[in-house]
Amino acid sequence: MNILILGAGGREHTFAHQISQSAQCDKLFVAPGNAGTAKIATNVALSVTNFDAVKELVLRERIEMVVVGPEDPLVQGIVDFFRQDEELKKLAIIGPSRRGALLEGSKERAKEFMALYKIPTAAYESFKAESLEAGKEFLTTLQPPYVLKADGLAAGKGVLIIHSLEEAQAELENMLTQNKFGEAGNTVVIEEFLDGIELSVFVLTDGKNYKILPTAKDYKRIGEGDTGLNTGGMGAISPVPFADEAFMKKVEERIVKPTIQGLEAEEIDYKGFVFIGLIKVGEEPYVIEYNVRMGDPETEVVLPRIKSDLVEVFQKVSDGNLDEVNLEVTAEAAATLMLVSGGYPEAYEKGKEISGLEEVQDSIVFHAGTSEENGTVVTNGGRVLAITSFGKDFREAIKKSYQNAEKLHFDKMYYRRDIGFDL
Ligand code: AMP
Ligand code: GLY
Repeated sequence: MNILILGAGGREHTFAHQISQSAQCDKLFVAPGNAGTAKIATNVALSVTNFDAVKELVLRERIEMVVVGPEDPLVQGIVDFFRQDEELKKLAIIGPSRRGALLEGSKERAKEFMALYKIPTAAYESFKAESLEAGKEFLTTLQPPYVLKADGLAAGKGVLIIHSLEEAQAELENMLTQNKFGEAGNTVVIEEFLDGIELSVFVLTDGKNYKILPTAKDYKRIGEGDTGLNTGGMGAISPVPFADEAFMKKVEERIVKPTIQGLEAEEIDYKGFVFIGLIKVGEEPYVIEYNVRMGDPETEVVLPRIKSDLVEVFQKVSDGNLDEVNLEVTAEAAATLMLVSGGYPEAYEKGKEISGLEEVQDSIVFHAGTSEENGTVVTNGGRVLAITSFGKDFREAIKKSYQNAEKLHFDKMYYRRDIGFDL
């Protein structure tokens, strides 16, 4: 069948890499894609939130399966758009409906969902401009540091962790009355700070059955030792050594099962990924956030460890028969290292020529932010390349990524040298 992947990052290149190897895949399209996806699929320039353009492409190329990479089209209702369209409604589309996507699109909704289904998470209350004073008062009842979250999508920047009470109160006021995060900050969730170590658990569901995918841990800060500004992610490893069987049993019983049961109880059309951001406090798991898609760069370590045919698995998801799938995962560990443009996550330059791509051995280079100009691959984003490697453990894997990073070059290239340092 012909398949379309929506998105342009390392996550989407990884999806393309796996899907292009499936015997079920005839023509593969990525929209808009990057220089990496162009090598294994046909790129189509369009905006992933222009649903009419997506429809036109799907009909023109007789596409039968669509895999949605990023959250924006999901939160804007691309799945509902497909289901309500006579010509598209039978298609397999991997991603939740708008109601499902609200688990990521609204932090308040996610907290209410967790409260209703008794899923462990930080205690919280939410506030609007009208209740600013109550919010300031609520802060005085908490211990520092204070966690303030803009309710809506804020491109990963909507969470503030603040040590002083006065500053937290001032920031709350900025968010609620000065539009600090635009509309996303019209409601602010204030929650208890949880002290522990973070990991990501990915679940694939057809809305009633589920499969837990390999665990991963990403490194979000720009600087070594987890310092400096937050980024989309500077590297990742899988599996997570501290997520042992006993811990994962708790995750499944206390978090995964009630989450899927909640979706089913609310009759939410959800055929896609649930990305559960977790924190391990002592030995106990708590949910930090839900996302309704795969993570990036976690995808670059999670998917390559899955040996099952991804297209067959997605077809089962679409048919509601995910229980028939036996997911095969390699015992080998994977690690990925992100090479970024100097200046990222703040201002950076684009259009820098990338050299050394042919010299990489023993690793897979996924393109995150690249494009091709007159036959040359150039940088086209903050996060540029993700080098994924395998090994008997993540240390062996990341070592290969570091060796290959030396062979790659572009002006002002930067990467963290300590992925996995805390494990
Ligand atoms: P989020 O966008 O919800 O993933 O939050 C961004 C980051 O803020 C997370 O990855 C955590 O490191 C941190 N964070 C969010 N909520 C809490 C919390 N309640 N306690 C401690 N850290 C948190
Ligand atoms: N790496 C975190 C995310 O994709 O949101």
